[in-house]
Amino acid sequence: MSQSIRFFLNGRVQDVSVRPDMTVLDWLRSAPRLTGTKEGCAEGDCGACSVLIGDPALGQAQDEGGGVHYHAANSCILAMGQIDGRALVTVEGLKSDDLHPVQQAMAENGSSQCGFCTPGIAISLAGLAAVNVDANDDDIHDALAGNLCRCTGYRPIVEAARKVIAAGGATIAGPAVSAFERIEPHATISSAGSTFHQPDTLNHLLQLRKERPDAILLGGGTDLGVALADYHSDWNEVISLAHVRELRAIRETEHHLSFGAAVTWEEVLARISGFYPSFATLIRRFGSTQIRSMGTIGGNIGTASPIGDGPPALIALGAEVELASLGGHRFLPLEDFFLDYRKTELRSDEVIASVSIPKPKAGQEFRVYKISKRYDQDISTVCAAFSIVREDDQVRSARIAFGGMAATPQRAGQAEQALVGTSFDRKAVKACSAAIAAQFKPLTDWRGSAGYRLEVAANLAERFWRDVAGEVVEVMAL
Ligand SMILES: Cc1cc2nc3c(=O)[nH]c(=O)nc-3n(C[C@H](O)[C@H](O)[C@H](O)COP(=O)(O)OP(=O)(O)OC[C@H]3O[C@@H](n4cnc5c(N)ncnc54)[C@H](O)[C@@H]3O)c2cc1C
Ligand code: FES
Ligand code: FES
Repeated sequence: MSQSIRFFLNGRVQDVSVRPDMTVLDWLRSAPRLTGTKEGCAEGDCGACSVLIGDPALGQAQDEGGGVHYHAANSCILAMGQIDGRALVTVEGLKSDDLHPVQQAMAENGSSQCGFCTPGIAISLAGLAAVNVDANDDDIHDALAGNLCRCTGYRPIVEAARKVIAAGGATIAGPAVSAFERIEPHATISSAGSTFHQPDTLNHLLQLRKERPDAILLGGGTDLGVALADYHSDWNEVISLAHVRELRAIRETEHHLSFGAAVTWEEVLARISGFYPSFATLIRRFGSTQIRSMGTIGGNIGTASPIGDGPPALIALGAEVELASLGGHRFLPLEDFFLDYRKTELRSDEVIASVSIPKPKAGQEFRVYKISKRYDQDISTVCAAFSIVREDDQVRSARIAFGGMAATPQRAGQAEQALVGTSFDRKAVKACSAAIAAQFKPLTDWRGSAGYRLEVAANLAERFWRDVAGEVVEVMAL
């Protein structure tokens, strides 16, 4: 058991003895007094606190024999325990002798006024420039979706990004992959009453889970971290999933894609795009790059939010969830995992191990729609996913699922039946819409009234029909 957290801070090894549930932002600003990293919202929304996290084992880097993979993360919702064994780069560490090319381009382009957002924006763009030297404007937009600038306006910021990309991108100066041997993640860190376990095999994880049913299971912490930052909740005992090999694996078989529960949404995005482009569009609107780089597919299911974006799409695709304990593994259709508001099938000795998604079938059409007040970085008012399989011009099977319409993500059984056996014509779609309106009794909240939700949900059946018919071009506001 170690009392200290070991990581690279701007290229230098650090051994830090603090509670592993202290936020990285609080530590940065109080101990080394690296105050370039700002606190704005303190809940993952504004990007002022962005830092880069480097990990040789993160993302696809290892599969491809790549180097250290850096991505932006929100330090306000990141716990110190989560950077053990990793590299942390702050805005102060971006520059070496000269300014980092992103900093230089921002200075030359007048990309900053009050400057509060500037360090976070420099970090996000440096993260982009390090991994995507072919980035187009959409990629720049995605990289900035989690960074709020209230005064400069985004045009000069985007122009600075374009300049750096046009010059071939820019690397992050940092330790080589081999140097990470010096900072291997500790199996357990314990300091000042907070204990952080980091198992690296499923078996070890399941043993810990059985012995410590009350410990917090931590995926990427993008849900749990908000409570940590906002309400100063204490994490006295944490079991982190970030290093569990089996939970980090992505497997592809002839008919399925299977994601380990600790696979991040950025990694899901990279893999799913070729199979389900509409799902990829949805994932690009999931939080921000910072959130998608930490938040996991298992955490999105584990949190059991009725407005989570993953479950409706996964349910419509017929995904199955694998639950594991020392007693064995069981597999459930994802819709059966959710029992009631924030209540699930998960037993206290179990973890979500993986999510398996069938690959597209011949004649299959799949679309998922997120309705929210803003395009980026917003919570769904309604999320609707539709999948049909047609054969000889007839709908053979249909799966429809909604988020934001009930206490749990739910399938729309009657609406599915209204489509099956039809030629997917206007009459069938009207019946489908009517069945949706009849099944659900959504809540009214500040995101939308019950009536609004019902109308939108029913209309989305028609939107799906028109999309499949090729009538609708991509609409930014959806
Ligand atoms: C700014 C911001 C924007 C966001 N935007 C979106 C969005 O657009 N759409 C959306 O759906 N969500 C969004 N979220 C919510 C969150 O990012 C997602 O739900 C994410 O997938 C959670 O994954 P995680 O690994 O970070 O979960 P964590 O915070 O680590 O865990 C969440 C819950 O799941 C449990 N859990 C985690 N992994 C497992 C496992 N393997 N087995 C059992 N239980 C497990 C944890 O114990 C905890 O109860 C946003 C959050 C923030 C802060
Ligand atoms: S302070 Fe706003 S995202 Fe962290
Ligand atoms: S420069 Fe003021 S918030 Fe962006």
